[in-house]
Amino acid sequence: MTQIALRNMTVMVKKRILLENVAITVNDGETVWLRGPNGSGKSTVLKLMAGLLRAQTGTVLVNGQALLPGHFLANAGVIINTPVFIPSLSGFANLQMLAAIRHMISDDDIRQRMQRLGLNPQDRMRVRQYSTGMNQKLGIIQAVMEKPVILLLDEPLNGLDKAAKQQVIDLLRTMQQETPNLTMVMVSHEEEIAPLVTRRLLIDGLQVIPDDDQQ
Ligand SMILES: Nc1ncnc2c1ncn2[C@@H]1O[C@H](COP(=O)(O)OP(=O)(O)O)[C@@H](O)[C@H]1O
Ligand SMILES: [Mg+2]
Repeated sequence: MTQIALRNMTVMVKKRILLENVAITVNDGETVWLRGPNGSGKSTVLKLMAGLLRAQTGTVLVNGQALLPGHFLANAGVIINTPVFIPSLSGFANLQMLAAIRHMISDDDIRQRMQRLGLNPQDRMRVRQYSTGMNQKLGIIQAVMEKPVILLLDEPLNGLDKAAKQQVIDLLRTMQQETPNLTMVMVSHEEEIAPLVTRRLLIDGLQVIPDDDQQ
């Protein structure tokens, strides 16, 4: 079971209040779709949940326990803003390096995950030469490859063509099926993700509110 909660969080950016007294609770098994205008603080909310940003006030609770300064959300796959890799290495070599941190998956697992999203693991092309869409696919693979119980995904469909978007949606649906208690928070402008979603939130001004507009 994993529950992530933001409590009374106020975030200041450049002496301006970006988010005020925000409270969000995401329970396990939920896939939350967070929307809002450009610059409203969507990526900031994901950073707060991941422990990558400290708010001026408030607490992040993971299963009821405060996430302490210097601690990050465990067992989470995360994409925030544009995924960044080592440009001089191939996609496979980048994923291999990341997988070596926790030793949870094999080279074959990495190859399979790359192939599933249409990246060739044998391709020696360096990430420097990757297109936006290829880089995005690599970002999605790094987020999901160790089968995390939490996914925080910032614009996961960015830069992808129609077929690739569908591949990613299918992949996320498979993740939901394989991990019934998966906790997912997604930021996206793409309506295609709607079938994956169990609850919608909207950043409205300085607040995060339920988004009941089902259009
Ligand atoms: N590290 C930072 N330093 C200064 N300003 C920032 C920083 N991160 C975010 N901001 C500002 O905070 C606001 C919200 O950013 P962000 O959460 O990225 O918005 P969104 O993801 O909704 O587009 C923007 O105005 C952005 O310029
Ligand atoms: Mg953003």
